[in-house]
Order: sequence, then structure tokens, then C-alpha cells
Amino acid sequence: MCGIVGYIGKQQAAPLLIDGLRKLEYRGYDSAGVAILHDGLLQTRKRIGRIAHLAQLVHEQAAPGTLGISHTRWATHGGVTNENAHPHLDESGHLAVVHNGVIENYSSLRTQLQQQGHHFDSQTDTEVLAHLIGKAFDESKGEPTKELLMEAIRTALKQVVGTYGIAVIHTSLPNLLIGARRGSPLVLGVGKGENFLASDVSAIVNHTREVVYLKDFDIACLSPEGFEVSTVPGGESGYEIREVEFDSKAVEKGDYPHFMLKEIFEQPETIRDALRGRLSTEEATAKLGGLNMTNAELRNIERVVLTGCGTASHAAMVGEYLIEQLALLPTEVEFASEFRYRNLPLPKDALVFAISQSGETADTLAALRESQRKGHKTLGICNNVASTIARESDGGVYMHAGPEIGVAATKSFTSQCTVLTLIALLLGRIRHLSTTDGLRILEELQAIPDKVRKILSLDAQIQAIAKKYAHAQSMMFLGRQFNYPVALEGALKMKEISYIHASGHPSAELKHGIIALITPEVPSVFIAPEDTVFEKNISNIEEVKARMGPVIGIGTEGSHRLEELCDDSILIPHCPDFLSPLLTTIPLQLLAYHTAVALGCDVDKPRNLAKSVTVE
Ligand code: AGP
Ligand code: GLU
Repeated sequence: MCGIVGYIGKQQAAPLLIDGLRKLEYRGYDSAGVAILHDGLLQTRKRIGRIAHLAQLVHEQAAPGTLGISHTRWATHGGVTNENAHPHLDESGHLAVVHNGVIENYSSLRTQLQQQGHHFDSQTDTEVLAHLIGKAFDESKGEPTKELLMEAIRTALKQVVGTYGIAVIHTSLPNLLIGARRGSPLVLGVGKGENFLASDVSAIVNHTREVVYLKDFDIACLSPEGFEVSTVPGGESGYEIREVEFDSKAVEKGDYPHFMLKEIFEQPETIRDALRGRLSTEEATAKLGGLNMTNAELRNIERVVLTGCGTASHAAMVGEYLIEQLALLPTEVEFASEFRYRNLPLPKDALVFAISQSGETADTLAALRESQRKGHKTLGICNNVASTIARESDGGVYMHAGPEIGVAATKSFTSQCTVLTLIALLLGRIRHLSTTDGLRILEELQAIPDKVRKILSLDAQIQAIAKKYAHAQSMMFLGRQFNYPVALEGALKMKEISYIHASGHPSAELKHGIIALITPEVPSVFIAPEDTVFEKNISNIEEVKARMGPVIGIGTEGSHRLEELCDDSILIPHCPDFLSPLLTTIPLQLLAYHTAVALGCDVDKPRNLAKSVTVE
């Protein structure tokens, strides 16, 4: 949800802010705006639509200055209008705020402020926060100083209920940029004679790779010469300057037309990166340093819960099959948004995994905190280093997939499944899996990247199939066992970028109602590799064909029966059942991608969506 960029230094702020917003546009793109201070005046430029529209506006109405804040919005309170676009000003018009998050008690605060004579131009919760800060600052005694503005921000933030990542500037303090966060990410970029704030490092990585990941309740004040980090409740906040793991190329499309396609094609490398340094052939197991749990502690685990949202919940479902099959451990998956409110009776030694690419998803973070409140050990599987979920978990395993910019998760899914395979292997090898079992699993895992590369070489064939079915009104995705979660994931990909209604089901569920939807206009995608349930899938395909339903089959190389039976088929290399999601999901990613392109959809920024759902 939304992207924030702030700059203070010696360069002109406008081009830096707009370039940074472009890197964050995947986080939300309803509207965008900047506020730049120059000669004691706040120049605000904002409008609905994409960053390109804002860039055009700033080009037409120049906004010089070396201190500024900017925002690209995903609306939560108030429609998509120019007035509701950020930045928002206080009553005086001397203070500007951009905000990521939700002020839950904004309505009562707004009423109070209106009773005190404040006037509002927008319907947003953010504008209330701007007025709250401005009011506290204007009521402080004496000359405007950094300390007084910091205190005013603290006073205001202590009154709000909800989440925030904010950047603030004031006309009377031209050498000051302030940032604060609770529940929404905010990073401080450390430059030379300049400093940055951003929702995500991708916005500033081409200016600096030295960053401070601010923690909840941190408040940072930045000047061109340096910065200080303290806390909203008051007192020092320990911070660490870290090196960003990737360079600016990682957040560029390069030769690809879309980030999503680039990230699909990165998967041989990203799966290899998820494995790197974690395979021990000597002990025929996985070595995961960040779990912060001994083998004895892991051996005592009697129950595993995997939780996440969207694609992460589908990876969790793959993890459920993996851990049950490889470690014989009772495992269950809970949607994070449900888990946080359920009062699930879990044994004290249950182990809870929070799976999240961004590491900032509000529901997943809440599920993590609820698990910890009940005394459970929690482990995070995240991609973004030092993200909130990664930091608050008791330990975890990073995905090392590099930035995932496309709103539709692709490489993060296969990286999550790879990490879950390593976890299942580790848990199995300290219980009952033999050395031979372990070595075979390691060998099969190491063969996966090349098999993925081979599937990617089928891109043109998959594109042709996508074009053939692009005008379907709805689609079915069906699979069994390890490929049932893949069916759900394939349906989600198709829905979220091509806007075709698609649903995923266990193949056997067809007969329990779903088959009523099969017509010649409704294609069914069957994930039917030559595995233990292949014959069952074949029967289901026959049932669909008997009702004139078109069938696209995802099968194993050499599977002539599948080829003969299906209208179209995509045959991929063989692998053991428990690794098949790493392969079968690739054709579905490409099928959704090419369908969306054929329909002229905005693949990287699909309507209504944002990359990281940091609001509930
Ligand atoms: C998947 O393509 C979507 N982008 C969405 O479902 C996503 O997986 C979900 O919001 C979870 O995001 P996270 O992994 O960053 O927590
Ligand atoms: N709640 C604020 C609004 O609706 C910020 C939303 C966001 O995080 O983009 O404008």
C-alpha cells in the first residue's frame, strides 16, 4: 500500500522524488504527488493517475528546491481524487505530510479539530494527521526548532490509533526532513551530503546502498549533514546501518517488457539462490542458520502451523504436504487474516511460520504477533531483509529472491516452496528420513533450476495457448495433492492480472458441483504430471471432455495419453511429487502473463491491487 519518498540534500528534489516514486509505483498507483520547499514556500503538485501524470505536471509547473516529500497512493479513506492525493497540509499550510497506513480513529479526531476551527480539503485520514501535527507545532512556545517539531509529531502520533509510515516537512525548518513509522515500512537512506526516506529500498538504491530499516515507534530526523533516530515514546532507538543486498539493476526491467516476465525468467537463479549454502551432502540434510532453534528443540515440535496471505498461503499449502510427507509432522495452514482472530487450540510447543514476501503484510504480521502472545515459537519466511515480520519473528529463513516488483507474485512463490522443502527435509532428517532419502532429495533439488530453465524455453508455445483462450469468461484450474495449491495459485495469477474469473479446486471436487460450470466456453487447466494420482486426473479430464469442456493439460514429458486427451498440453520435465509445484507453477505463470498481455491489461500494476498489503 502506497509508496513514500523523501529527500534532503544538495540536489534538486523533484527528479529524485519522481524517479523514486516510479520504483514504488507497484505499491499503489491511484494518485501521486510531491511537496517541495523553496524560498519558504511549500510547492505542492498532485494528481490522480500514474506517476507519469505527476511527472508531466511537475514538468509543466516546475517545483525547484532541495527538500521534498512525495507519495504514490493506494486509497483507503476517500476516493481517488486530486484532493485526496497526498501530500496533505495542515491548517496553516506550512506543514506537509505523506502517509502510508490507516488512522483508525481519524473520524473522531477530525470532528475535534473541526470544532476547533480546522478546515479539511479531503476525505482522507491522512489530512487529519497533518492538522494534528500542525496544531501541536503551532501551539508550542518559542521559535520553531527541530526539537519542537519532533515533539509536535510525537504528540500527534500518540493520539492516533492505527498504522503509519510518514514523512513530514515544515516551511520554517528548511534543513529538516522527519520520518516515523508504526506498522508501515520506512527506510532511511544514508547519503553523502544528502539523506533519504523511502517505503522500500528500491526507491533509493541507485543513490545509496547504506540504509537504516526503521523499526516500529522510531522517529528519524534527517538533515543534509546527518540524521538522528529516536522513538515516539521518547528515548534513544538503537539503529544499524546495513548494506543493501542488491544493486539498482535489480529494480529495473532491463530488456523485459514487464517486471513480471523478468521475475518469471529469474526463477532458475532465484531457486538456486534459495538453496545456496543450505545443502549439506555430508549430513544429507539442509543447514538453515537463521532458525535460532537447536535440533533438540526442532525435534520436540509436535505441530506446525503455516500462515500467510494470497500466494504465500498457497506456498503454505505446499509446505503442509511437504512437512507431512517428509517429516510426518501434523501441519496445518491458516489464512493469516483468519488465524489472527481464531482461537486455535494449539499445543504450547506448536511452531508457527509466517510466510510473507514483503514481510509487511498486515494480517500476517498480526497473526505472528497473536502467536507470540500465546507463547508459540515463530519463524518467518520472508524476502525483504529486516522487514517487520523478519525482525519480529523468533528466527527464520530468507528467500534471497531479490526485489519482486511485479504485483503478481511469481519468483517469491517458488522461493517460498524451495525454502519450505528445505525446512521439511531438515525436520524429516532429525526424525526418520534416512541418509539415502536425504541425499536423493538434495540431488533432486539441485536439478530443479535447470528443469525450470527448460520449461521457460516453452514460452512461445504457452503464449500461443494463452492467445487461444484469452477471451474465456472464466477458467477452472484443477490439481491433486501437491498440485492442488498450484491450481489455486494458477487461478489467482489469472484473476489478478487478466481479470478473467478463475477458480482452483482439487480435481476430485469436479463431481461435487463444479462440473456444472463446464461448457465449451469454459476451459479447464489440469495440472496432471505422471505422479501417483495421474490416472485419477485422467478420469477427471475425461469427465470434462465428455461435457465438451476444453482442457489444457500440464503434464510430464512423454505423457502421450495426456497429449491425446487434452485440447492443448504443456509437457514439462519429470520430478518427484513433492517437488512438482516448483515446476508445474511455471507454465501457469506464463499462461496468466501472456493472457493478460493479449488482453492489453497492465500486467505489473493490475487494477485495484498493490504489491504489499500493509493495511487490513
Ligand atoms: C499474489 O500474486 C498477490 N500479490 C498477493 O496475493 C500476495 O501474495 C499477498 O498479498 C501476500 O503478500 P506477501 O507475501 O508480501 O505477504
Ligand atoms: N490512508 C491513506 C489514504 O487513504 C493512505 C493510504 C496509503 O497507504 O496509500 O490516503
